[in-house]
Amino acid sequence: MVAIALDPVDGPTYDAHVVRWDPERYRAFAEERARPFLDLTSRLDGLTPSRIVDLGCGTGELTATLADRWPDADVLGIDSSPDMLAATGPLAAEHPRLAFQEQAIEGWEPDPDVDLVVSNAALQWVPTHRELMRGWLTRLRPGATIAVQVPGNEDSASQVLVRELAAEPRWADALAGAGSAILRVGTMRDYVDVFLDGGHRVEAWETTYQHVLPGEDAVLGWLSGTRLRPYLAALGARADEFVEELRPRLRAAYPTVSGATLFPFRRLFVVGTARP
Ligand SMILES: C[S@@+](CC[C@H](N)C(=O)[O-])C[C@H]1O[C@@H](n2cnc3c(N)ncnc32)[C@H](O)[C@@H]1O
Repeated sequence: MVAIALDPVDGPTYDAHVVRWDPERYRAFAEERARPFLDLTSRLDGLTPSRIVDLGCGTGELTATLADRWPDADVLGIDSSPDMLAATGPLAAEHPRLAFQEQAIEGWEPDPDVDLVVSNAALQWVPTHRELMRGWLTRLRPGATIAVQVPGNEDSASQVLVRELAAEPRWADALAGAGSAILRVGTMRDYVDVFLDGGHRVEAWETTYQHVLPGEDAVLGWLSGTRLRPYLAALGARADEFVEELRPRLRAAYPTVSGATLFPFRRLFVVGTARP
């Protein structure tokens, strides 16, 4: 059985900067979470960037793959969570040109010599991210690349079940802020237009991963590392009660067969180049 340990925060209002991330819980599915990053960055062949920024870099292991791939480039990972950044020290020590910085994406602006911006599974936490992307494109130099992956699974059973439970009367007041704050992913058209509207080049694709996760309650375990965090933080002492109501609904939607749970997960990818 998955037990959800969470540091509660005061009040029902969602604020991305007070949601506590739990690196160990996040890493529980490290291989599955790495795949979209590797698929995204596999589209960057032929680039020789000199300054790379990874926005919402989390625990930094994936950022370090960029430093391995381009050892002559300066690579900076930024993230607003000190908990996620806590383990990045040894990575930076191993890579002379890799650094990490605690900073909110909302306050970041690219220096003009940044020539590759990567963001994997992070921008959906930033409500204004598409407007920010438009601004970054006006500052980046011609030929600079922005490579982004965001989840596209708001209509999946896992998300619908969380939203339905959160909307039930006994939870609705406490979770009003948390519920609205996590529906920030646009359509593929929205992301493509960020680039096309400014005359930039872009390619886009989507993938639905079919994760085969070990053990019962694997989907609950997955969600507790990401999407449930604002909900559970807003609920504080009532978080366990919410989880126990969610657990049977997720089990019914994602049955465990022969010890494994099939968890489809759609993701959107865009890789764009600032216009010459
Ligand atoms: C799902 S994790 C992805 C981490 C990493 N990119 C990866 O692929 O494993 C999302 C990350 O975004 C960070 N994040 C969320 N909102 C943020 C914000 N407004 N500014 C900076 N980082 C943010 C979180 O702290 C977390 O580390």
